[in-house]
Amino acid sequence: MASNNAPIGIFDSGVGGLSVLRELRGLLPSESVLYFADQGHVPYGPRGLEEVRVFSEEITRFLLSLGAKLIVVACNAASAAALRTLRVVFPTISFVGMEPAVKPAAESTHTGVVGILATPTTFQGALYASVVERFGSGVTILQDTCPGLVGLIEKGELDSPGTRKILEKALQPMLERGIDTVVMGCTHYPFVIPLISQIVGPEVRVIDPAPAVARQTARLLDSAGLRNMNPTPGVMRFFTSGVVAEFKAQLPGLLGESGEVQQINWKGNRIGYFGAGSSPSVP
Ligand code: DGL
Repeated sequence: MASNNAPIGIFDSGVGGLSVLRELRGLLPSESVLYFADQGHVPYGPRGLEEVRVFSEEITRFLLSLGAKLIVVACNAASAAALRTLRVVFPTISFVGMEPAVKPAAESTHTGVVGILATPTTFQGALYASVVERFGSGVTILQDTCPGLVGLIEKGELDSPGTRKILEKALQPMLERGIDTVVMGCTHYPFVIPLISQIVGPEVRVIDPAPAVARQTARLLDSAGLRNMNPTPGVMRFFTSGVVAEFKAQLPGLLGESGEVQQINWKGNRIGYFGAGSSPSVP
């Protein structure tokens, strides 16, 4: 049985999940966090459902081995690929996942035309088909995968000419067809909302589901009696399968704070724990 002081586990293919973590941190500052950035495999979007499911299952196992009391799948692609399986494989653990926010978009659109920006894996998944079927009737939904955008955000290019070009290519045709709402269906994309807002203008609503995900996490912790009641801020530990220095350099700008970052190595489809002779320490 997990304790209230145990950390929340959260993962993404890279820095995208930090857009969810910053909301979690605002709402649940006492919670300790283990954040896994699978930058050795980023981007997940073009990889397809099965490969991303395998990664997600192993990362979850890793986070649980470090004592995580709940897992936030802070990645739309991983949620599309793995959420259902994760709930079956780890039936005693609560999971919070991401799904493109078709429901709030469909409820608030006046023109009846909404845009969804997400990666190919997310668009391929049953989760997306299900939200479109349940909430998208009577609404025209325009999709774009913004090829290359995740890679540029990983490099910290939040406002470069290349980033602008990808977003203009995705958004201009949507604007011409009358969108008044655009949904961030990838957790990397909220970091370019300032640029998106410049392109679409003030009349178009931009929906980032991260605050709703943070609220859902709080609800689940409360219903399981697992919320951390300590008055002090929780400790955040980060793990990357990419380059530690690069991930660490991104933290202050994207999250507004920093923390210890450790290297993780994949060996095939298994996570190797910090090289020979060492093992992960429980925070
Ligand atoms: N941030 C992720 C998502 O929400 C994955 C992006 C990627 O690695 O392609 O879908």
